[in-house]
Amino acid sequence: MSGQAWWQRGVVYQIYPRSFADSNGDGVGDLRGILERVGYLAELGVDAVWISPIYPSPMADFGYDVSNYTDIHPLFGSLDDLRELVHRVHALGMKLILDFVPNHTSNEHPWFLEAKSSRTNEKRQFYLWQDAKPDGSPPNNWLSVFGGSAWTWDETTGQYYYHAFLPEQPDLNWRHPEVRRQMYAAMRFWLELGVDGFRVDVLWHLIKDAEWRDNPPNPDYRAGEPPYTTLLPAYSTDQPEVFEIVREMRRVVEEYDGRVLIGEIYLPISRLVSYYGAAGDGAHLPFNFQLIVLPWRASDIAAAVSEYEAALPPGAWPNWVLGNHDQARIATRIGLRQARVAAMLLLTLRGTPTLYYGDELGLRDVPILPEQYQDPQGKNIGLSRDPARTPMQWSAAHNAGFTTGRPWLPVADDYEHVNVERELADPDSMLSLYRRLIALRRSEPAFVAGHYRPIVAGGDIVAYTREHDGRRWLVALNLGGQPAELSLSALGAGGEIVVGTSRQRQGQRVAEQLALAGDDGVIVRLD
Ligand code: NOJ
Repeated sequence: MSGQAWWQRGVVYQIYPRSFADSNGDGVGDLRGILERVGYLAELGVDAVWISPIYPSPMADFGYDVSNYTDIHPLFGSLDDLRELVHRVHALGMKLILDFVPNHTSNEHPWFLEAKSSRTNEKRQFYLWQDAKPDGSPPNNWLSVFGGSAWTWDETTGQYYYHAFLPEQPDLNWRHPEVRRQMYAAMRFWLELGVDGFRVDVLWHLIKDAEWRDNPPNPDYRAGEPPYTTLLPAYSTDQPEVFEIVREMRRVVEEYDGRVLIGEIYLPISRLVSYYGAAGDGAHLPFNFQLIVLPWRASDIAAAVSEYEAALPPGAWPNWVLGNHDQARIATRIGLRQARVAAMLLLTLRGTPTLYYGDELGLRDVPILPEQYQDPQGKNIGLSRDPARTPMQWSAAHNAGFTTGRPWLPVADDYEHVNVERELADPDSMLSLYRRLIALRRSEPAFVAGHYRPIVAGGDIVAYTREHDGRRWLVALNLGGQPAELSLSALGAGGEIVVGTSRQRQGQRVAEQLALAGDDGVIVRLD
């Protein structure tokens, strides 16, 4: 596997730092907490850790509102803590990826404070200001992802400013050369410090239509969906000029050896793949969220894998994501039994897998009362992301071993059974399954470098082979609850089950017909 870069070979693990491990008892996770737990990550077998934002921030959007791009929020620790973490992660053979949030700053960032102080301030053009319409209304119909107009009126200077998210998150003007220069300098600051790359927040948002045209209505909008989706963001996102910026970011990252550029991009496959860059000079990994956004149905999943494989430009490396801090947890979306099938899918498809902290334990969304919502999206439009951000469950100790203080979000009440300590001791646990899957992926080049060939199975089955250097593997997954069978005659071989979602299947021989129980998944080494 020596031909592959680490970000192609490896498994990425996302940490939501507020919720991973709290070292000082203030109820919020921190860098020293992560430091104490890096051994767990190394043993799990992941290769890279991505940490959601840890920069100084008023926390209007829990760190996605940055007020200083080159420092650490004291809540999380210090620059020295981060240096130590980089060192420890590297010593264990892993990589550290930071979140970079270039689309918007906090409204408390010194640039914005200056920009809103007067129309002639030299930082004014760092942001996106427009006059009101003659009737005083906002310059166009664009909506904030978090509800309401994307424009907020500034009394002092008598103009509106644009914010794709909260009013506390004013969008930067990426057409301004000085904005680019400063942001690239911030990237270099972290790369110099030794971090191995970035996950770039809302990369497809960076450039907006120069004429500020109205977005068209979404003909497919259905009542109950987020208000933002009543319009199609045709002019506010995914503009052609964004690719120049993606290329520039890639060049910054490439000034250093072996770093990675990952883009957060929610777009259909046909648009997503353009973020690899016309000449392979864009993001190394434009995040592929198909497994999050699609219905969990064999036909949809199989079709999406095929479409994605076919759409990848030459040389582009695929990737798959099962969960993140913005989405309901996988075990809640599809149930615990199917979450085991999903783990097998994620870790055997072709491409870099990204998993979300706690999903390896089978954590579920924790119900949180509206009065207790922390997340601004929950407070504004009722769609709280808090349930998927609750504390990591380390042990059966008080607060699941996450904190000695009062956790910022409630700990799930199943923590006495669902926790790292217990699951490590149980060979049938979700964690043990994840460990087996990751270990197999690490030891068998076919899962990283091998060809992917779909098998048309029908019904609820998703099946494919991975093949490398004469070694051939079959992955067969039952995405339904009823027993199903897959004929292996077209493969011309039987084999042995090496990993099953149910451990009892391991070591079984299979010949012409492979029988799968409901919610069953197997990985077969073909003869
Ligand atoms: C995407 C991040 O993942 C999400 O948590 C955040 O609220 C928005 N971008 C705004 O930064």
